[in-house]
Amino acid sequence: MRWNVMPEGSLDRGALRLTGEFIRLHANESPFLLPDVVRAAVVEELTWRGQYYPDPSGSSLKRVLAERLGLAPDQIVLGSGSGDIIEHLIRGLTQAPYEMIIPEPSFPLYEAIARTQSAVVRHVPLRSDGCLDLFGTLQAVNEGTSLIILCNPNNPTGGYLPLSEIAAFLDEVPSEVAVLLDEAYWEMTDAYAKGQPGAETLLARYDNLLISRTFSKYYGMAGMRLGYLLAANAAVAQAVQRRMSRAMPNRLALKGAEAALSSAAEVAYREYGAIIRRERELMVREMTAWNLSVYPTQTNFISVAWQDHSHAMDSAHIAIRSGQTMGLPGFSRITIGTPEQNDQVLRVIKNSLVTTNLSAPSTIDAR
Ligand SMILES: Cc1ncc(COP(=O)(O)O)c(C=O)c1O
Repeated sequence: MRWNVMPEGSLDRGALRLTGEFIRLHANESPFLLPDVVRAAVVEELTWRGQYYPDPSGSSLKRVLAERLGLAPDQIVLGSGSGDIIEHLIRGLTQAPYEMIIPEPSFPLYEAIARTQSAVVRHVPLRSDGCLDLFGTLQAVNEGTSLIILCNPNNPTGGYLPLSEIAAFLDEVPSEVAVLLDEAYWEMTDAYAKGQPGAETLLARYDNLLISRTFSKYYGMAGMRLGYLLAANAAVAQAVQRRMSRAMPNRLALKGAEAALSSAAEVAYREYGAIIRRERELMVREMTAWNLSVYPTQTNFISVAWQDHSHAMDSAHIAIRSGQTMGLPGFSRITIGTPEQNDQVLRVIKNSLVTTNLSAPSTIDAR
């Protein structure tokens, strides 16, 4: 049997062993409870309609999303998490002998899927500030390129490029090359908080543009699995949706996401977002004051040049990600949690610096 086995090495299955006893700061999840209105909608759906199959086209959620983003419902693809959609998209667009360009380091899923496709993968290193190198990406394009993936903000660095730079890049990309803009962390950016236009406004200008987003991060629904793809070209969206037809999101996720987009939920999410941005600034300031290098981040995580040599985070029952597993040796990637959790993280790092005498931080009382 010629079974195409997906290599799992880079996916860090070790993280899956973690239990609820650990403070989960390793997977960029939300530390907050779902807003009441979202929980109520999910419970009501489960109570009264849990026995029924979901709408296979997810048309109600697509309508809400389309209205919010100024698009047509048939430009939207729904999936059980954006990772699932990205996987189908890569499989659809990168049959050998085609080539694909991805940033490095970035979200490991791209590489893991591409490797199962026998497609040639070209890696473009990030800029030194942890942002995408769009100039280098353009230089890597050739006649064989079928897909470019941009992760903005980028995981695991958190670097974010403004929309104007993405637009200038798209002006230069040949129209037959598809560009996937992975925006899993878009709602965590200052630009989103300020109400600046999102990348969906570019779809009318670039027929080769696809944007993936998720309800897992800002909306705190990682456990329910729901993501979406926005396509400039409705025919492309339909082709991807057809590939995914058996992997449709479940009824509870669809309903929860619809409630998450309501104005009642928006109030809670804005508040959560403000806490994350405030904590992000505070933690970066503290770490920098201790002479630790930190990538500028517009996400709910921080990659800092600090390694947990003495397993102090483990001892404090805090789960974080070693940068080693994500192409950032010497760094740790730490999800921003609640203010209390963040204080614990800072305390562990501070203690480790004091004991190893690398630096002598004076305080963590910046709050
Ligand atoms: C950059 C990026 N894209 C996509 C995903 C996938 O998210 P999900 O499948 O939960 O929507 C993640 C998850 O961590 C991510 O960091």
